[in-house]
Amino acid sequence: MRIGILGGGQLAQMMAQSGAGLGMEFMFLCPDALACAAPYGQHICAPFQDEKASWQLARWAEVVTYEFENVPLDLVSSLEKQVELHPSSGALSVARDRLLEKSRFRELDIPTAEFMPVEGLEELRQAVEIVGLPAILKTRTQGYDGKGQAVIRKIEDIAAAWAQVGGVPCIVESVVRFSRELSIIAVRGRSGEVAFYPLSENYHREGILRLSLSCLNDPLQFQAQRLIQRLLEDMQYVGVLALELFQVGEKLYANEMAPRVHNSGHWTIEGAATSQFENHLRAICGMPLGETGASAAAAMVNLVGRLPDEAAIREIPNATPHFYGKGERPGRKVGHITLIDGGEGARVFAHRVAHLLKLAGEDEGLAQVLNDKQSAQTS
Ligand SMILES: Nc1ncnc2c1ncn2[C@@H]1O[C@H](COP(=O)(O)OP(=O)(O)OP(=O)(O)O)[C@@H](O)[C@H]1O
Ligand SMILES: [Mg+2]
Repeated sequence: MRIGILGGGQLAQMMAQSGAGLGMEFMFLCPDALACAAPYGQHICAPFQDEKASWQLARWAEVVTYEFENVPLDLVSSLEKQVELHPSSGALSVARDRLLEKSRFRELDIPTAEFMPVEGLEELRQAVEIVGLPAILKTRTQGYDGKGQAVIRKIEDIAAAWAQVGGVPCIVESVVRFSRELSIIAVRGRSGEVAFYPLSENYHREGILRLSLSCLNDPLQFQAQRLIQRLLEDMQYVGVLALELFQVGEKLYANEMAPRVHNSGHWTIEGAATSQFENHLRAICGMPLGETGASAAAAMVNLVGRLPDEAAIREIPNATPHFYGKGERPGRKVGHITLIDGGEGARVFAHRVAHLLKLAGEDEGLAQVLNDKQSAQTS
């Protein structure tokens, strides 16, 4: 199969790595001359708006997909008329716009934080009265890794928050006091077949995902599955879909969805029978889905800004480094490490995760959270 991908970052790279084993070939349309996926296929280095380039991709590929939701919607709609493309432009149009997304959640009875659309400063003031404080202002489109967001703690913060997001159409939502931040990753094939991965528990710092832990046999697994299943069926979705969730008490609230493979699912490469990347490819190509089960717990530590010494990672049993081949820059995801529980017990596993966090340059705070969690589990 010949697969065309819009984007050439690490998600495209990992799709191509897993697709090689299925005999697939890849072509990436990506404006970045240093696209890290490029060594894994052909690279058309051109702007997304370049019609000749997208035509070239559509002519070569048997199936087209994308690695992030900030690709131009027009491009996806126009490619969809020329070639098999998944997830559809319909799914993308909802997932890329926080207002349409949260409204769809509401229509499908998927709980969310209180939210209001906002197009001006006055409207923001009124909306804050309704959603309450603290609140978060988020641009409707183009946000990622916490970009395009401003926290409003008190009334006096409102004007600065509006200026900070650049005065573009937004939503403002109440801050959810969650006990855990989770995500569920599901995959739906062209025949309608659906599979779910075990939940991931996610830790962010400065709006960027730092750590994911797989949650095997979690009591909220089926609640999460029911929520994402509604989305999959509603959109007649094909491919991998991720749904980010907040846990409050025993109830889940949806934060946002991503119509693509997701950072919190990177542990599935080593930790699940079939990775999210392979299952995305299987789904969009109309192949039967692979097993999503996991036999041992896994952790994934993101490498943000800089790479640690690879040899130091290799010294930790059952840890696998993934370096994306991207230049180091503050706040940039340049790699990740997966750790699989080798059965030595929760204490050893937690200790190794803490070690990896240290190598990744994380502060003690995150390791402490894990320690407390582990003590709570064993006490
Ligand atoms: N309403 C909220 N209440 C509490 N925390 C929130 C809320 N919205 C966002 N956050 C925190 O900020 C993080 C980033 O927000 P969100 O997922 O909406 O933005 P994003 O830029 O798309 O992030 P990413 O690209 O990492 O998914 C969330 O994972 C969560 O930790
Ligand atoms: Mg998010």
